Amino acid sequence: MKITFYGHASLGIQINNIHILVDPFISANPKASHIDVNALKADYILVTHAHQDHIVDVEAIAKRTDAVIVSNFEIATHYGNLGLKNHPMNHGGSWHFDFGTVKYVNAIHTSSFPDGSYGGQPGGFIIESNNKNIYIAGDTALTYDMKLIPMQTKLNLAILPIGDNFTMGIDDAIIASDFVECNTILGYHFDTFGYIEIDHNVAKQKFSSKSKELILLDIGVSIEL
Ligand code: NI
Ligand code: MN
Repeated sequence: MKITFYGHASLGIQINNIHILVDPFISANPKASHIDVNALKADYILVTHAHQDHIVDVEAIAKRTDAVIVSNFEIATHYGNLGLKNHPMNHGGSWHFDFGTVKYVNAIHTSSFPDGSYGGQPGGFIIESNNKNIYIAGDTALTYDMKLIPMQTKLNLAILPIGDNFTMGIDDAIIASDFVECNTILGYHFDTFGYIEIDHNVAKQKFSSKSKELILLDIGVSIEL
């Protein structure tokens, strides 16, 4: 499983020859101007919630690639009404895709579309594939529901928001990593806007003081699990 950080909360996940994008917000992110959104491959686009900073490129990428949009019922239906392929899910539900199993899990946040219309309830995803399991938290507060995840899934990586203000900050993300029982954390949802700028060294030191590794990738850089 290869995971690429495309800035903010945007991820690419490659499993075998299948390409998954998560929350593509690339063309509108000045920090990701070196990423050519028109060159990204996608068989699936996973969307955690309907906020602008998670969906800006979904429609154009789906039209170009014919990717299946996987999200909550309201978001999937929204894109279905635009004629795009979609797979609706809702909280607690799992589905076996050709790349692995996806579960849509709780997040504490909001989920309106940019025009104010209802985007369902926000979520996160657990992906299990090829004996590698990851948790993509989405935009969320620290929540006790995270303790449910390790009851069923041994995680290899937890992808957690760390930018504070709109989501968990670093201290809560450290507790979240305890709740999900995973000491390898990829941080996301930081530095994009003034409200969520962080000190990278302080963040890494706080995690390492708890014997945890915080990975912060430059935009366009990948890790392999
Ligand atoms: Ni959001
Ligand atoms: Mn966000």
